[in-house]
Amino acid sequence: MLHLPCLLLLLCLPLSSASSDAELLLTKVKPALQGKGNSNPPNAQLATWNASTPLCLWRGLRWSTPDARSLRCDTPAARANLSLAADPALLLLSVRLPAAALAGTLPPELGAFSALDSLYLAANHLSGPVPLDLGNAPALSVLDLSDNRLSGALPTSLWNLCDRATDLRLHGNALTGAVPAPAGPSTTCDRLRVLDLGDNRFSGGFPSFLTAFRGLQRLDLGGNRLQGPVPDALADMPLLRALNLSYNNFSGQLPPAFSRFAAEPSSFSFLGNDPSLCGPPMRQCVSSSGLSSRGVAGMVIGIMAAAVVLASVSIGWAQGRWTRRDSTQGQQEEEEDGEGRLVVFEGGDHLTLEEVLNATGQVVDKTTYCTVYKAKLGTSGGSIELRLLREGCCKDAASCAPVVRRIGRARHHNLVPLRAFYQGRRGEKLLVYDHFPRARTLHDLLHGGGAGAGEALAWARRHKIALGAARALAYLHAGQGEAHGNVRSSNVVVDDLFVARLAEHALDRLLVPAAAEAVLAAAKADGYKAPELQSMRRCSARTDVYAFGILLLELLMGRKPSATSDLPSAVKVAVLEEAALEEVLDAELLKGPAEEGLVKALKLAMGCCAPVPAARPTMAEVVRQLEETRPRSMQTRSAMYSPTESRSDAGTPTTA
Ligand SMILES: *[C@@H]1O[C@H](CO)[C@@H](O)[C@H](O)[C@H]1NC(C)=O
Ligand SMILES: *[C@@H]1O[C@H](CO)[C@@H](O)[C@H](O)[C@H]1NC(C)=O
Ligand SMILES: *[C@@H]1O[C@H](CO)[C@@H](O)[C@H](O)[C@H]1NC(C)=O
Ligand SMILES: *[C@@H]1O[C@H](CO)[C@@H](O)[C@H](O)[C@H]1NC(C)=O
Repeated sequence: MLHLPCLLLLLCLPLSSASSDAELLLTKVKPALQGKGNSNPPNAQLATWNASTPLCLWRGLRWSTPDARSLRCDTPAARANLSLAADPALLLLSVRLPAAALAGTLPPELGAFSALDSLYLAANHLSGPVPLDLGNAPALSVLDLSDNRLSGALPTSLWNLCDRATDLRLHGNALTGAVPAPAGPSTTCDRLRVLDLGDNRFSGGFPSFLTAFRGLQRLDLGGNRLQGPVPDALADMPLLRALNLSYNNFSGQLPPAFSRFAAEPSSFSFLGNDPSLCGPPMRQCVSSSGLSSRGVAGMVIGIMAAAVVLASVSIGWAQGRWTRRDSTQGQQEEEEDGEGRLVVFEGGDHLTLEEVLNATGQVVDKTTYCTVYKAKLGTSGGSIELRLLREGCCKDAASCAPVVRRIGRARHHNLVPLRAFYQGRRGEKLLVYDHFPRARTLHDLLHGGGAGAGEALAWARRHKIALGAARALAYLHAGQGEAHGNVRSSNVVVDDLFVARLAEHALDRLLVPAAAEAVLAAAKADGYKAPELQSMRRCSARTDVYAFGILLLELLMGRKPSATSDLPSAVKVAVLEEAALEEVLDAELLKGPAEEGLVKALKLAMGCCAPVPAARPTMAEVVRQLEETRPRSMQTRSAMYSPTESRSDAGTPTTA
């Protein structure tokens, strides 16, 4: 009697495991995401996943053909093909249903799609646990389950994704227990760049295995119930640029090297922990060996690049000369001594070589060719931003001089002004810019992680930022006849009134070819490189326009561009799929009243990203179109949102 069912089972099992991805999606995933109970009305997005709708019109999904290419849904035939859904060779590539009112649970079958590369289900109402099987998804590299109601412990199997995972986001759920350590003790999760476990209910000690994740750039553990000491090894993570340990119960002394995180309090946060938590960038530890404020400055200088330290030390003997010269000659346009020279530009005439070199600074950022410091001037008390070009990256002094003078002449409301340039005897080059204390980069504003990072960025504000950046580019292209060369969201500095200022213009022209090509490689990896641009020597107004188009898409979609996440293609596919606007645009933008301008801006951005350079508009045209589509809320509300309004809150006052 038992034989028949057994036989049937054996026969059925291989059959069911050979069922197509589409079938698995319909039978398992859809019902689970939809949720049980009559209280849930059928979900509008999920309803499109049905046999009477061609596969290409199923919302929020991407498919791959057996030869690992994206399924093309851009032909009318494909978009009308009802038998595609029955094709077992098609593999599910991604599920993207953020803010889609999903009210169910995560089915274990999500781990069974052999090609599933990304799963974005943020900002829904999903509840229940993170299924263990999800960790066995063979191809998953991006997982975003933020802002749901997931509960229970995080399964250890999550780290099975380490082979491929680049982004794991579980922010804003109700996960409990300790953050589990990987089963393999030497797991390094080399590709993982973002790990966001913030705003959950994790408890226990600091998950110190994370310090072995060498590629990590952003780590958010804020808003949990973690306690105990913070491991010193955390300060040695080479790429870590944003760390949030706020609102836990961490205690004791922070690793001394953490002082570098003091530079950008908004990206490195330790607030709201046990009162005993101390050490820079928090208050000094009283119980430790009585470090004076000089000691702190020393420590900070200790981590600055050797060239600056050498320069600050060597200035000691020159100091006598400075005092004398200053008193007899007053300010000079160019100061020089045996060690190097300082060329000052408009608005920088209060800067002296001594002051610049003795400024105490903290590392804010590192790029392929320079280290950025925020520094305080001793006497005037103002703050400046220093960019120290890395040794071996720069052209010789003679070829740099004319470029630096051009950069120094450029003055526009939406450009970060260069105030001075220092050329040391050993070839070290230091660019002195205004520092905007209350500003953040657009990149951090949009992708900074943490709850509410995007909240403040309604369309009126994003529009103002886009318009500011566009005006700066139009100025450079027309007035200066020069390309910016490195337009990207991390080079847009946004102050507290949402005035945008472009940084780093024309710096590639100070670099030796190899270093300049590294800038291009970074632009390519981050998705800003125009398709035709093969060498940095060829960068032009047209390639700037392309990069600006990407920047505008980034503002509109709230998505970080990259070589693998090509924003213009994503829009094209969405248009062909007749996807709803909310699938393309950042959810934040759709909260306000419907804005016609959003669609126009999207079209404009796509125009800027035209594959043929000649088809792209000029920046002057972009400015004109953006001015025409000014958001309604901006026309009616206070001057706060007016794009022309600004405040000079730079550390270095402008004398112009
Ligand atoms: C199938 O999807 C279409 C939209 O593509 C929808 O109008 C229809 O109601 C769906 N059918 C079912 C049974 O959900
Ligand atoms: C529809 O899709 C099936 C399965 O992939 C394919 O065999 C067929 O040729 C397609 N039909 C059309 C009209 O494209
Ligand atoms: C914080 O941690 C300390 C031990 O380090 C413990 O005594 C205290 O109760 C904890 N506070 C909370 C609110 O959990
Ligand atoms: C850090 O985390 C806390 C708690 O989740 C949050 O309130 C804060 O805004 C975060 N800070 C940043 C800079 O993201």
